[in-house]
Amino acid sequence: MSQHLPHVTTAFPRRAVVTGAAGFIGSHLAHTLAQAGTVVIGVDRRNPAVDHTAAANLAPLHGLPGYVHITADLLNCAIDPLLIDADVVFHLAGVPGVRPSWGPQFGEYVASNILATQRVMEAATRIGVPRLVVASSSSVYGPTSGGASVETDQPRPASPYAVTKLAEEQLCLAHATQAHCSTSVVALRYFTVYGPRQRPDMFTHRVLRAALTGQPLRLYGDGHQRRDFTYIDDAVSATIAAATTPNARDVINVGGGSSASLLEVIGIARSLVGREIEVHQENPRSGDVLTTRANPGRAHEVLGWQPQVDLHSGMRSHMQALTAEPAVYGRAA
Ligand code: NAD
Ligand code: UGA
Repeated sequence: MSQHLPHVTTAFPRRAVVTGAAGFIGSHLAHTLAQAGTVVIGVDRRNPAVDHTAAANLAPLHGLPGYVHITADLLNCAIDPLLIDADVVFHLAGVPGVRPSWGPQFGEYVASNILATQRVMEAATRIGVPRLVVASSSSVYGPTSGGASVETDQPRPASPYAVTKLAEEQLCLAHATQAHCSTSVVALRYFTVYGPRQRPDMFTHRVLRAALTGQPLRLYGDGHQRRDFTYIDDAVSATIAAATTPNARDVINVGGGSSASLLEVIGIARSLVGREIEVHQENPRSGDVLTTRANPGRAHEVLGWQPQVDLHSGMRSHMQALTAEPAVYGRAA
């Protein structure tokens, strides 16, 4: 469990549904909410009885009163009964990851990120849930000149994944414009979230795993790519604020406004673990953009959000969590 606590959140919903609760961000969100006394229904298609990652992600929630977990696929389960009396739906379920979205897996991206989202949004509208917070992505911006991305910038998604995330956020926002829809929508464009329980396909996890195990790191490109790395607790505090801020609407960036290169991240991992990292350079991957960086102005103005955790201390917490669970970091991604 992470040692940083959310800093800016002042209010918590009374009752919430978290889709994707067995995932990285969803499990942290559900945990923070349940700890604060929110009644949480978590939904995820991964079954913790047979899926190690889901079980590990959900372990901190065991025994927390007020947390109920449902294993179900949003593509075909009955959603309405789950939403009754909820103040908010946090829709985080989806198929993430830029690089695997090319090729035959694209159908999975479309199914979970678009078709399941349509079902969730229709159900929220029918039940009259006051707020839906949906997980969008910095990837919708596509290639930039290196400057900070503002929510009003023209999206230029550069991967099939990013196209589905743009469709997902716009789908929810389109529903919200309908006269019969009383659900207000906030779409959060998260910028590369890291920290304990991060997905094992992601860079920060892989670089720390390489440092801890001595296994080589595959570096796609020359390492000069830059990301606006966002610590998980900061992502969670923005997400809760998006649910409880009355006038929040539309798309909001969740990224602090600075960026670090992959080479810098390798340097931090090396210094934290005290071991050289063997780097195997490979070709850049399709759809990867050179730089992401958020303009955090709207998040600050609308949500009062200010990230609290710098990259070095966030990576230290991430590393400590991996060290405590070698079975997790030792597992192949
Ligand atoms: P994750 O894969 O750890 O979690 C997503 C969860 O959604 C998984 O547990 C998966 O089983 C579940 N899911 C997928 N399809 C489902 C369906 N049809 N029915 C029920 N459950 C389903 O991913 P994450 O990193 O926690 O990302 C969460 C969300 O945030 C995703 O929508 C992702 O696109 C978005 N996002 C993540 C990041 C990041 O840096 N991690 C950045 C931007 C956006
Ligand atoms: C991440 C998440 O994976 C997406 O789900 C999310 O939507 C996106 O952030 C976002 O911000 O919206 P990405 O920025 O590609 O996507 O993050 P990583 O998967 O951690 O990759 C970061 C960089 O590291 C990329 O340039 C990638 O090519 C590189 N990388 C990744 C490697 O060099 N080696 C690896 O083993 C993994």
